[in-house]
Amino acid sequence: PAEDGARVAEIKRLLQERNAVLVAHYYTDDAIQQLAEETGGCVADSLEMARFGARHDANTLVVAGVRFMGETAKILSPEKRVLMPTLEATCSLDIGCPADAFSAFCDAHPDRTVVVYANTSAAVKARADWVVTSSIAVDVIEHLQSRGEKILWAPDKHLGGYIQKKTGADMLMWDGACIVHEEFKAKGIEDLKALYPEAAVLVHPESPASVVELADVAGSTSQLIKAAKELPHDKLIVATDRGIFFKMQQMVPAKTLFEAPTAGSGATCKSCAHCPWMAMNALDNLAGALRDGMGEIHVDEGLRLKALKPLERMLNFQR
Ligand code: 13P
Ligand code: SF4
Repeated sequence: PAEDGARVAEIKRLLQERNAVLVAHYYTDDAIQQLAEETGGCVADSLEMARFGARHDANTLVVAGVRFMGETAKILSPEKRVLMPTLEATCSLDIGCPADAFSAFCDAHPDRTVVVYANTSAAVKARADWVVTSSIAVDVIEHLQSRGEKILWAPDKHLGGYIQKKTGADMLMWDGACIVHEEFKAKGIEDLKALYPEAAVLVHPESPASVVELADVAGSTSQLIKAAKELPHDKLIVATDRGIFFKMQQMVPAKTLFEAPTAGSGATCKSCAHCPWMAMNALDNLAGALRDGMGEIHVDEGLRLKALKPLERMLNFQR
């Protein structure tokens, strides 16, 4: 629509005027991903978003995604202004892991190395020895296990279970889940596979074990996009937020992509899985953030310094 065109033009002008760069996650709206691409920003998974923001020399980072992504950017780049289209965009994993209760859990298990998923608050990260994203989690835990360390893992029990299965590590788990990926059902994917037996199945490991078991490839959003390119299959069934289809289809224009069905949906559903918090990012509030400086991320300096250590460990980790 015409209003979108005007908004896009306004955002492009404001990005320049404010010396700002747009860092967007694959689950945000197509229009936001396209804007990030066209303006020299990035569209990425959570690890790449963190790396890109930390390295970029803009004064302002505009992070389109969910709150932990903005906080991570601020923790890594305190000298930059970090804006988000809305500060309301959270994550069920973050909500399900309050810092006080988590800290008590850690206190009860002092013999364990604390590894937390990036999808957590700055306060939870501050309590951790390591932060990991889904693209690096298996490698880090493998490394810790090879040193004989026992792990306390939070908050995603499905991702944790997946890592445990892959590495055999001793992991005590927090009981959290992603409300989007938890909705994928093995039965729905099996029904779709029956219709298209030649299709490969790509799954984000925040999905339940029964779904991950059906995967030809399990991995982070970037890893799934890479797999879509590299696999020989012409048809792909994809179990992750539907936002990923924008980039994935760009990368494999000749392939047919199917959304994996979620609970209650038919085998050939459209627009099944979409994170309600990612969906809060829109052209309007993105323009508003740049125009008025709304949605600025602040992290207490003491907390920031504590959360920085486990984040830097992740960024410096070499396999
Ligand atoms: P990625 O690190 O794979 O982009 O995942 C982030 C996320 O929130 C998935 O739900
Ligand atoms: Fe959190 Fe799930 Fe949304 Fe990712 S898709 S931000 S894990 S609720």
